[in-house]
Amino acid sequence: YLTIKQLVQVLMAAEPVNVNEFQELARQSLPKMYYDFFSGGAEDQHTLRENVEAFSRITFHPRILVDVSKIDMSTTVLGFNISSPIMIAPTAMHKLAHPEGEIATARAAAACNTIMVLSFMSTCTVEEVASSCNAVRFLQLYVFKRRDVSAQLVQRAERNGFKAIVLTADTPRLGRREADIKNRMVSPRLKNFEGLISTEVVTDKGSNIEALASGMFDASLSWKDIEWLRSITNLPILIKGVLTCEDAIKAVEVGVSGIIVSNHGARQLDYVPATISALEEVVLAVGGKVPVLFDGGIRRGTDIFKALALGAQAVFIGRPVIYGLAAKGKHGVRRVIEMLKDELEITMALSGCSSVKDISRRHVRTERDRL
Ligand code: FNR
Repeated sequence: YLTIKQLVQVLMAAEPVNVNEFQELARQSLPKMYYDFFSGGAEDQHTLRENVEAFSRITFHPRILVDVSKIDMSTTVLGFNISSPIMIAPTAMHKLAHPEGEIATARAAAACNTIMVLSFMSTCTVEEVASSCNAVRFLQLYVFKRRDVSAQLVQRAERNGFKAIVLTADTPRLGRREADIKNRMVSPRLKNFEGLISTEVVTDKGSNIEALASGMFDASLSWKDIEWLRSITNLPILIKGVLTCEDAIKAVEVGVSGIIVSNHGARQLDYVPATISALEEVVLAVGGKVPVLFDGGIRRGTDIFKALALGAQAVFIGRPVIYGLAAKGKHGVRRVIEMLKDELEITMALSGCSSVKDISRRHVRTERDRL
């Protein structure tokens, strides 16, 4: 007979079969404060739930008797070939999930032959990440009041072989994340900025994350600053956080190389629509002039198929990657990406699509279609 302790160990060692099981494993392995930080959203967390639930209101319109004996999931993003349209979103502070931090995540990206966007608020430096793997890397950027600090990091990334800059444009202030306030969540060391700017902020408001952001982020950032960004780097610029046709048109006008439909994983303004509900408006406004990428709420391969059918060229995964990292380090991140890839492959086969470019608007029905 097994003791209860042994039984728990056996259960813990069981390989998760889907993202939700990885989430549960992460919940068990992380201190509550960090699990809440990673999993939580803003205020009532309405949009957090909606980001996931809105996918369930989209149904398939599958085709039969199509030769799907070979499925090609490869695609290109900004000219880079990747093995599937599944990339890694920028998420902050990976060392809170696993001691190897972003290095483990980047190595998993390389193993999966996909692109990783490194968060500006990473716990490993751009140099450490660059030297530890050969994955195609983009740097996510927050523009600080100290523009020179942001510019230096962009230039360090460019020198270290990063291939694009992802400007996150939905964070003039940090959304109110009440779990962090209650838990008195404190930022770990942000090594990228050591010697450049102090990130050790003390506050009496519970979490210091909000104080850190409001002290450092430049809330005056506006469309004209894309010019400034272009003056400090030759890398292509993507803009992340677009949710409306107005901003999509503006982004095309200022000449960005790509648009990311995102609501920051529902951590900023609560009651914005689920990203999957906002995607089509943006795709129609952009009219194919630049690639539209997508993130938010993806937990299944079917979700990825729906985003591609509604016009996304490829998608980014946020929390599931962190759950994989927290549960099983690099191996866990790799498993999460592979599981989603397997699920997408089956969805393609059962919908009658043998390659990513076969996935079309005709393969799904949204609520609007049913009106
Ligand atoms: C984020 N996100 C984010 N975005 C960004 O541009 N810079 C950042 O530093 C972070 N940090 C961050 C931390 C954590 C814990 C989460 C959950 C998210 C947002 C991220 O890039 C992405 O938009 C969402 O995570 C996508 O939603 P899902 O996949 O988490 O549902």
